[in-house]
Amino acid sequence: MGLTTTAKSRYSYGAMIFHWIIAVAVIWNWRLAENAHHASPEEAGAIFADHKALGITILALTVGRILWRLTHKMPALPSNYATWEKVLARATHAVFYFLLIALPLAGWIANSLSGRSIDVFGLFTIPPLPVGENDKLGGDIYSVHATAGSIMIYLIGLHILGALKHTLFDKDGGIFRMLPFGKVGTTARH
Ligand code: HEM
Ligand code: HEM
Repeated sequence: MGLTTTAKSRYSYGAMIFHWIIAVAVIWNWRLAENAHHASPEEAGAIFADHKALGITILALTVGRILWRLTHKMPALPSNYATWEKVLARATHAVFYFLLIALPLAGWIANSLSGRSIDVFGLFTIPPLPVGENDKLGGDIYSVHATAGSIMIYLIGLHILGALKHTLFDKDGGIFRMLPFGKVGTTARH
C-alpha cells in the first residue's frame, strides 16, 4: 500500500484538529453542566458561566469546522462497509453537525430570553440576541437543550463503539482515519 492510498483514506490535518478539540470541548462542557446541576446555587452560577463560555466557543469552532469541510476533500468511507454501517455513520455525523450548532445556539437564545449576556472567559462579552424577554420560553428551551445534550452523549457512545469496531474488529482504519498515524485503508476480510 503506497503513501497515496494512505493519504487518501485519512482526514486532513485541519479536520483532525477540529475533530479532537471539539470532541474534548463537548465532553468537558457536558461534565460542567452535570456538575453545575449537582452543585450549590452559588457554585452553580460560576460553573454555568464556564459552560456558557465553552458552549459559545464550540459554536465558533463548529462554524470554522464546517467551512473547512466545505473547502477540503474528505475521504470516502471504506468500501468494505456494509450499507447499514454507511447509513448509520453518515446519519450520526449529520446529527452531530446539527447538534453542534443547535445546542449552543439554543443555549444562547434561552440565555438571551432572560436578558443575559455571556462573559467569554473574561476576554469579551457576547450580548443577548434581540429576542426580547420571556423567562417561560427560555426555561422551555433550556429543557429541550438539556434533553438534546443527553441525546448527544448517547450518540457519542455509539460513535465511539463504531470507531472501536472498525479499529479492533474490522481493522479497516477506524480511529486512525482521524489520527495522523496508524494503518488505514481497506485491508479487511471480504
Ligand atoms: C455544544 C455546546 C453545549 C453542550 C454540549 C451543552 C450541554 C448541556 C447539557 C448536557 C445540559 C444538561 C445538564 C443537566 O441537566 O444535568 C445543559 C444544560 C444547560 N446549558 Fe448547555 N450545552 C452547550 C451550550 C450551552 C450554551 C451556549 C449555553 C448558554 C449560553 C448553555 C446553557 C445551559 C444552561 C443554563 C443549562 C441548564 C438548563 C436547565 O436545566 O435549566 N449551554 N447543557
Ligand atoms: C465527543 C464528541 C465527538 C463528536 C461531536 C464527533 C463528531 C464527529 C463527526 C461529525 C465526524 C464526521 C467527520 C466528517 O466526515 O465531517 C466524526 C468522525 C470520526 N470520529 Fe468523531 N466525534 C466525537 C468523538 C470521537 C471519539 C471519542 C472518537 C474515537 C474513539 C471519534 C472517532 C472518529 C473517527 C474515527 C471518525 C472518522 C469516521 C470515518 O471513518 O470516516 N470521535 N466525528
